[in-house]
Amino acid sequence: MARILTGIQSTGVPHLGNILGAVLPAIKLAKKSKSDSYLFIADLHSLTQIKDGKSLIENNFATAAAWLACGLDVNKTVFYKQSDVGEVTELAWHLSCFYPYQRLTLAHSFKDKQSQINTVNTGLFIYPMLMAADILLYDAEIVPVGKDQLQHLEITRDVAARFNNLMGETFVIPKPFLTDSRQQILGTNGEKMSKSKNNIINIFLPKEKLRKQIMSIQTDSTPLEKSKDPKKCTVFHLYSLLASENDSRDLKNKYLAGGMGYGEAKQLLYELLLKKFNKERDRFDYLYKNPQEVHSALTLGAKKASVLAKKVLERVRKASGY
Ligand code: ADP
Ligand code: TRP
Repeated sequence: MARILTGIQSTGVPHLGNILGAVLPAIKLAKKSKSDSYLFIADLHSLTQIKDGKSLIENNFATAAAWLACGLDVNKTVFYKQSDVGEVTELAWHLSCFYPYQRLTLAHSFKDKQSQINTVNTGLFIYPMLMAADILLYDAEIVPVGKDQLQHLEITRDVAARFNNLMGETFVIPKPFLTDSRQQILGTNGEKMSKSKNNIINIFLPKEKLRKQIMSIQTDSTPLEKSKDPKKCTVFHLYSLLASENDSRDLKNKYLAGGMGYGEAKQLLYELLLKKFNKERDRFDYLYKNPQEVHSALTLGAKKASVLAKKVLERVRKASGY
């Protein structure tokens, strides 16, 4: 039974793009797959960027609550916080001793920041070693990642092979599983939705705030009575991702016929979001009122993950001569 493992950044509440592009597909995959699945919040990686304990805690909580609210089944998936399984940092150290410094200087996570070298901390430099440890600590075979993480996966395979060659067969060599082929979800300004672009839709917001976000979607200035092109409209793009075929067709016809303002389309999108994510929104609110449920889900995951982590680290220590 192949083991699937992936890490998620904890940089805030997942937005609609994350949810449709990553969270729901991952939950679906875990549900139908017979494989063992591991999913963790990469909070130690976040520390390379975020230097404020309160934000780190809040981000971890929001990320975990969103995944749980979207239906992640913690009996099926081992769900934990990276920092709760301390073995990972020891393994990162072992791996660092087997990976050439020169090669790490070629990692994008570091190279892209070279122009601001004064702001690069050592943690950011060895980021790929911690990521390799995340994966190798659990004998993961399949690692779902976006294109931007492929180089990190190559480094993981490389360092595992170097260790195996020098110290004897110790690590399972993982394979990436590319998750980027899906459609890009657009944000309120018509560009790809992204935290860094300030254009997100957060489906977990209270109703009035969510409505405000939807009403802020940029549209063109075609007058109300004129026919409108649904293909060029972000409101329609988002609506058709979530609506039934019939409802999408009805809205498309309204665009083409003219006489409908964008405000009306936005209201329909808002109502659809509330309907589609009704359960998730309720569950998210419930978890915020009952934070111990999130904490105990993560504690349970860390307990399960630790069993395997200890076993694999023992194997590494033995191979290294400890
Ligand atoms: P952000 O761009 O907001 O920082 P991340 O890079 O953390 O988002 O994305 C995490 C996951 O969510 C990735 O797997 C990515 O493919 C998916 N994702 C993010 N934004 C979108 C989007 N606009 N459309 C589809 N998938 C997305
Ligand atoms: N670096 C990954 C990202 O930015 C997150 C991550 C950390 C990860 N450790 C991992 C992904 C291990 C897969 C496996 O998205």
